[in-house]
Amino acid sequence: MSSSQRDAGVPNPTHVAIIMDGNGRWAQMRGLPRQEGHRRGLEALRRTIRNADALGIQVLTLYSFSTENWRRPHAEVSFLMGLLKHFVEKDLAELSAANVRVRIIGGRDDLAPDLRRLVEHAETSTRANTGLVLVIAFNYGARDEIVRAARALAADAASGRIDPSVIDEAALAGRLDTHDLPDPELVIRTSGETRISNFLLWQAAYAEFVFAPVMWPDFDRAAFEEALAQYRQRERRFGGVTAPTDRSVGVA
Ligand code: IPE
Ligand code: IPE
Ligand code: MG
Repeated sequence: MSSSQRDAGVPNPTHVAIIMDGNGRWAQMRGLPRQEGHRRGLEALRRTIRNADALGIQVLTLYSFSTENWRRPHAEVSFLMGLLKHFVEKDLAELSAANVRVRIIGGRDDLAPDLRRLVEHAETSTRANTGLVLVIAFNYGARDEIVRAARALAADAASGRIDPSVIDEAALAGRLDTHDLPDPELVIRTSGETRISNFLLWQAAYAEFVFAPVMWPDFDRAAFEEALAQYRQRERRFGGVTAPTDRSVGVA
């Protein structure tokens, strides 16, 4: 089967998750401070939200700050916190007018009270919107998310609200920050790095991965479409077999 034939029948993913990486290197290559890379990264984020909507994506998750990113110098951490604040304050009205529903995943307890309130406001004020679901992963770490889910289930079991023997995959998934979202079919990472860096470990169990060579500030519509084209050429088997593979396997 040629790629164009296969392309024709495979729809775009419903949920695309992106590890927005390479802001620092983008700046370094130009002799600019890392902060300038993050500023340009915010422009790429805005552009990607518009492109996702135009390309018919229903859920877009953007990895913006990881639980490990606290290890960066204090000045860079503060700058990134300020950038999220700036983004919500400046863009929320426009996003809401475009019918975007905003969700934030990640631990809330470590966020400054004003940022926490802002994040809650972004979610509640866009709750009724029915267009693109924009999920910002901020202070997000998949291990932390799974630990918080396990803790919640353990508390329910200890208080007798649930029987431990009924805990199944759906019960755990139902306690994750993403409990009401579909799993991503496609995870894109920019900057050429080929690791997952503690992103959506549970939800991406069967996702397709595309590692794009561009630094995040340069991620544009063409790069997005290229990633989607690669996705459409993948054969998703979910542990099963497909007819061509089946024929190629000899019976012992
Ligand atoms: C991604 O760019 C943004 C965040 C992790 C917040 P980086 O800041 O990781 O850029 P590089 O990887 O150092 O180039
Ligand atoms: C992953 O990028 C986190 C985000 C994009 C927010 P990092 O730059 O922090 O990942 P590592 O350190 O290269 O694995
Ligand atoms: Mg990086």
